[in-house]
Amino acid sequence: MIGFIGLGIMGSRMANNLLKSGYEVILHNRSKAKADHLLKEGAIWAESPRQVAQQADIIFTMLANPQVVESVALGKDGFLEEFPAGRLWVDCSTVDPSFTRKMGEEALRRDIRFLDAPVAGSKIPAEKGELVFLVGGDEKDLEEARPMMEVMGKAIQHQGENGKGSSMKLVVNLMLAQSMAAFSEAITLGQSMGLEKETVMNTLLGGVTAAPFLNSKRDKLLHGNYEAEFPLEHLQKDLQLVSQAAYEHNVSLPIANVTKEIYGLAKQFGYSKEDFSVIYKFLSARM
Ligand SMILES: NC(=O)c1ccc[n+]([C@@H]2O[C@H](COP(=O)([O-])OP(=O)(O)OC[C@H]3O[C@@H](n4cnc5c(N)ncnc54)[C@H](OP(=O)(O)O)[C@@H]3O)[C@@H](O)[C@H]2O)c1
Repeated sequence: MIGFIGLGIMGSRMANNLLKSGYEVILHNRSKAKADHLLKEGAIWAESPRQVAQQADIIFTMLANPQVVESVALGKDGFLEEFPAGRLWVDCSTVDPSFTRKMGEEALRRDIRFLDAPVAGSKIPAEKGELVFLVGGDEKDLEEARPMMEVMGKAIQHQGENGKGSSMKLVVNLMLAQSMAAFSEAITLGQSMGLEKETVMNTLLGGVTAAPFLNSKRDKLLHGNYEAEFPLEHLQKDLQLVSQAAYEHNVSLPIANVTKEIYGLAKQFGYSKEDFSVIYKFLSARM
């Protein structure tokens, strides 16, 4: 039986793919309503993370941030105390490597095996089972989780020991955040000089300077529909984690920190829950 905790944009779709492949899944989410459609498909509901641990052989978590992961694992009704020794916890949430290592130690202390396995790919790849898992941890534990990851993803990349999956995820999301902000600024400059927004976008997307993922944001920017695939508040959180990791590893990332504050300002102006591509709307407010 697979335990799955965290049924937001990503987790609900990942759990659904497990169910569709015939796995038995026991679910928990803070807001039960988000589990309703999965319960209709045959998933079992657990009233708490602790109850998940009583029945699951392996637990996947897909939660907002490190604080939430810690409270769901170790807080009141957390799953870690209740999970029988020898079982496997796979955390897919985007968190920082120090935190991941701390969770790995907490797990080990209880004889629980642990993988950090954050994912690259957003709402649509999650739905289609096309995520890329960036995994840190023991190769043998990965082999145990691999069949389930294959149902939810199209690639599994083992990065090394615990913490390395989270490290790679921060690297990826740093590029994501900066590319989106740079693209938005470039379009804003073009528009300010009298160029057509669509023409600027087409020229950039047809050339070599724009990151490939930006194509998937084209319609959002063109039509101003910023329904969240990846909420801006999570990307701003990731930039905060990037900044913390850079401090811990004694590197300076000036562009990352400016970018973090741009997303931070957008959050302050009420864009938290919208897709992070809304940064274009924020930066081009005068256009
Ligand atoms: N969306 C993406 O494109 C994407 C891609 C790769 C990685 N990620 C990462 O994956 C994780 C989940 O992202 P998402 O897009 O699925 O986010 P989301 O839709 O906001 O879901 C967040 C999940 O965390 C739970 N949660 C939040 N605060 C909580 C609290 N105080 N106590 C208990 N549970 C709490 C939510 O429960 P409720 O349902 O009750 O709010 C929900 O299950 C994040 O770490 C994100 O950075 C996201």
